[in-house]
Amino acid sequence: MKNLKFGSLDAAPNVRRVKDMKDVILDKEWAENNLDLELYYMYRDLFMDEDRESVVKYNLRYDITVIPPLSIGREYVKTMGHYHSECSPGFTYPEIYEVLDGRAHFLLQKVTGGRVDEVVLIEAKAGEKAIMYPNYGHITINPGTETLKMANWVSREFSSVYEDFVRLGGGAYYELVEEKFIKNTNYRDVPPMKRVEVTNIPELGIVSGVDMYSLIREPQKLHFLNYPQDYNWVF
Ligand SMILES: [Fe+2]
Repeated sequence: MKNLKFGSLDAAPNVRRVKDMKDVILDKEWAENNLDLELYYMYRDLFMDEDRESVVKYNLRYDITVIPPLSIGREYVKTMGHYHSECSPGFTYPEIYEVLDGRAHFLLQKVTGGRVDEVVLIEAKAGEKAIMYPNYGHITINPGTETLKMANWVSREFSSVYEDFVRLGGGAYYELVEEKFIKNTNYRDVPPMKRVEVTNIPELGIVSGVDMYSLIREPQKLHFLNYPQDYNWVF
């Protein structure tokens, strides 16, 4: 995959291959036979020159992820899956995504007392947003025949926590090409999947069809990404 031009940046991707995430792929035999196959591309910390200072000052990061259409064995191609690190007692960092091209299935899951007690699916298409709530892990699936290109704003302090997804062989559900969603039997008592609408929070500038990158020019609207504990009305 080629570099991504963003303003004056010529960003090289981090490439995720089958061998990096074979533990979370349902079809192990397929994975073993395709270890070097490239699955998706992450372009981290993008900014226009004029926004560089704000991005650092407000402790934010803008990334773009590109996921070409593919089936990975019986499943649709997906991201590795992770939880987020904690930012204040009882809150992990939230994150906000915008689909730039294609379609996304955002699958969120919340753990309480060692087991997943909520699973949420947000289906989004170009221009639509999806919030990753504090204390939810998430994976993104490309269920389409087009390339999925998506962007996210997140705290610069944030880190990804992969262990639970690796240990349990993926998210609580797998999205299969033929049979749609099936439960991951490595989890105990997987709850039914709730479908939730895409996120629109006009007070924070999160509106379908309105470009999300430019929120850096109104950084108070991205304040919630570092201080979710101050946003009870959102979470
Ligand atoms: Fe995330």
